[in-house]
Amino acid sequence: MTSNLDSTGRSSAAGAQDGGRQDDCAQNCNVALVGFGTVGSSVARILCERSNTHLRLTHVLNRNVARKKVDWLPSSVQWTENIDDVLSSGVDVVVEVMGGLQPTEDWIRRVLASGKSVVTANKQLIAHCGPELIALARQMKQQIQFGASVAGGVPVISGLHEGLAGDELFKICGILNGTCNYILSQIETNGVPFATALREAQKLGFAEADPTEDIDGLDARAKLAILARVGLHCDVKATSIVARSISAIDAVDFQYANQLGCTIRQISWAELRPESNTKSKGDILFAAVQPALVELSSPLARVEGSKNLVVATGTYGGETVFGGHGAGGHPTAVAVVSDILAVARARQCGTSYAAQPVEKTPAVTADFTTKHYLRFLVKDRPGIIASLATILSHCGINIDSVLQKPGCPKPHLPFLITLEECKASLVDQALQQINSLDFLVQPCLHLPIL
Ligand code: HSE
Repeated sequence: MTSNLDSTGRSSAAGAQDGGRQDDCAQNCNVALVGFGTVGSSVARILCERSNTHLRLTHVLNRNVARKKVDWLPSSVQWTENIDDVLSSGVDVVVEVMGGLQPTEDWIRRVLASGKSVVTANKQLIAHCGPELIALARQMKQQIQFGASVAGGVPVISGLHEGLAGDELFKICGILNGTCNYILSQIETNGVPFATALREAQKLGFAEADPTEDIDGLDARAKLAILARVGLHCDVKATSIVARSISAIDAVDFQYANQLGCTIRQISWAELRPESNTKSKGDILFAAVQPALVELSSPLARVEGSKNLVVATGTYGGETVFGGHGAGGHPTAVAVVSDILAVARARQCGTSYAAQPVEKTPAVTADFTTKHYLRFLVKDRPGIIASLATILSHCGINIDSVLQKPGCPKPHLPFLITLEECKASLVDQALQQINSLDFLVQPCLHLPIL
């Protein structure tokens, strides 16, 4: 069977199910899938079930491939554990959804060098060496697309790269990790313990293989580094972006946040500001991934479950919002298949990926000036507030409010101090002294109020 275009320009169902044929018509695009986990199997499903594409899945590569084989893919698909089978085949596009840095990077380099294009969902890899891989793709007149590496099914990379190319963006902020958003929404709405919410996120296929990547903000900061490159044209290493964990957030924090008219979300923020310090010239990138209080009226507060939201702000166009499903097999697979289609289109037109120039290398800091939320868990005794207030006042920090839920057990008493606007570094300085005080049951939870 061949993939015939009908009068509407759609190909017949056969196209997606006819892997392995050598006599392709020009429109066919042979695809190899490297990785058959949650996202990989969803990509295969879409390629197999959608009848209006000219994409043909010809190879699936995975470790221990025998245990991965499914009966719903055409028998012509070649299952393999050997990348050389893919490299020596007539495949046009290799889809990398296995994750990790090695051997993935080596394989992608070999794929590009062998004259095939690449679609990848691997944010750690793109954050780590995206520019080098793009340069190699260009040199080989091939494509590398990574739309699924940020915000799952939300087309934010193409939105920044193409849709907003006419603006001069200076700020990108949002919710970039579906697992964290799911966990925080579950604690907020159903009062479930952190560990239960995490287990649910793992069951639903949102979480990374190692969920500390999600919880400690490492996943989101890789995505933020990619967005800063694509949208702000800044060469930023993911490791230069501060990432703070959501693991200390408790149900009581949502109760206190609510009293302040806020909720808590893991917020990724990258904002380019001109340097005001006369000693150094150029821009500064204020960037961090951290749990933060956001006003209940903000669009960020209304992001539920595993959804993501990105707000890009530009000099000319103002704010543009991208939102949708940021994690999970099917939404991420949609982004992957869209990228395969983009590669296939570009191959037909003979174009290669044109990355926008990454022209800025700003200093990166997380020293935001905001109001602050300090939640203490203490073994109660007289003089606690007095001790805290003394340290804060010595650091020149002004208290805004003090809140204490009545009726809490004295050995584990949670209460809250909010601070007027000041730099995060000043609060950290005060907390170094505060965290050694003997009445604390655990270190103070410090969150910015955005
Ligand atoms: N673990 C990631 C998340 C999956 O929760 O957002 C998508 O990158």
